[in-house]
Amino acid sequence: MAWASIVAVLSSVLIFSAFSPGCSLSLNYYDKTCPHAESIIANAVKNAVSRDKTVPAALLRMHFHDCFIRGCDASLLLNSKGSNKAEKDGPPNRSVHAFYVIDNAKKELEAWCPGVVSCADILALAARDAVALSGGPSWDVPKGRKDGRTSKASETTTMPAPAFSISQLQQSFSQRGLSMDDLVALSGGHTLGFSHCSSFQNRIRSFNATHDIDPSINPSFAASLRGVCPKNSKAKNAGATMDPSSTTFDNTYYRLILQGKGLFSSDQALLNTPKTKDLVHKFASSQEAFNKAFVNSMIKMSSITGGQEIRKDCRVVN
Ligand code: HEM
Ligand SMILES: *[C@@H]1O[C@H](CO)[C@@H](O)[C@H](O)[C@H]1NC(C)=O
Ligand SMILES: *[C@@H]1O[C@H](CO)[C@@H](O)[C@H](O)[C@H]1NC(C)=O
Repeated sequence: MAWASIVAVLSSVLIFSAFSPGCSLSLNYYDKTCPHAESIIANAVKNAVSRDKTVPAALLRMHFHDCFIRGCDASLLLNSKGSNKAEKDGPPNRSVHAFYVIDNAKKELEAWCPGVVSCADILALAARDAVALSGGPSWDVPKGRKDGRTSKASETTTMPAPAFSISQLQQSFSQRGLSMDDLVALSGGHTLGFSHCSSFQNRIRSFNATHDIDPSINPSFAASLRGVCPKNSKAKNAGATMDPSSTTFDNTYYRLILQGKGLFSSDQALLNTPKTKDLVHKFASSQEAFNKAFVNSMIKMSSITGGQEIRKDCRVVN
């Protein structure tokens, strides 16, 4: 074997072991120990969604934030304790909400099969259910994650930021074993939900020394965003939906990017390399291609390892 291919094999083994679970995940993980686990979680999600249409977006974003810090280990669910400020009290937490949905599912699961189903698995399944209930694809979620024992607000600064350039996004994703294909597909999560003005403020006023408004943004879209986010406004809840069909999981997000109507710099930045631009075009013209890629990348993201235990209460370590 040539050295180059030996090195290639070795490095793929290294990458694989760094980003795949120590105890590997499986589709039938709870079949014997908690056969109703998935339907209990699905019911908790369905109940919440029937009362509040903002829940699916919250659950999807919750899973993403969890996986990007210390792996998918439910570290995001832990409450601050004593002098330790937890992830959920760190800066990029503004729209992370609906923690009660996970609590409700966990309570029911503890009644049926105590100490068996991890909070991290509940989160992964709830995110899948949230997408499916919004008209998106469904998929089998590999299970067997463990919950972590550490959550630090300071680590949330490693989350990708909405002002990130394509190279910063690439770096952030590749540090977690995720590719540019994953970046484009998973950014499609922005077909759901809402953003506060602070997340796109940089684009609509005082952009840089030569442009007041980001030149990559559609001018009439920029004007409407300036309307909903007046200068010096103190309105804490002001903002815009991520796309006009913000409770429907569809490919509108990609079509908007092609019109200069991506909300964040990080959305619009997907047009800045030929490879990612091609994918935006592909997903904008095919819901099916988007769904397939999204499922594939969700399974990949949600297989980043983390924890050590099965928490009894998702908000506190055992
Ligand atoms: C590529 C890097 C990403 C960046 C920079 C980013 C940034 C953001 C920001 C700034 C918000 C709005 C927060 C606010 O102002 O309230 C947001 C919302 C959201 N993000 Fe992302 N995000 C990224 C990737 C993802 C991924 C991978 C997913 C899921 C697959 C996702 C799902 C969501 C959802 C569903 C919302 C709406 C939340 C709600 O309405 O409660 N994002 N994102
Ligand atoms: C978000 O973090 C800030 C501190 O950065 C904190 O004051 C606020 O309570 C947190 N919000 C939520 C919903 O946890
Ligand atoms: C402002 O942004 C535009 C578009 O990204 C860029 O072409 C220009 O060089 C920037 N100006 C300064 C002073 O950074």
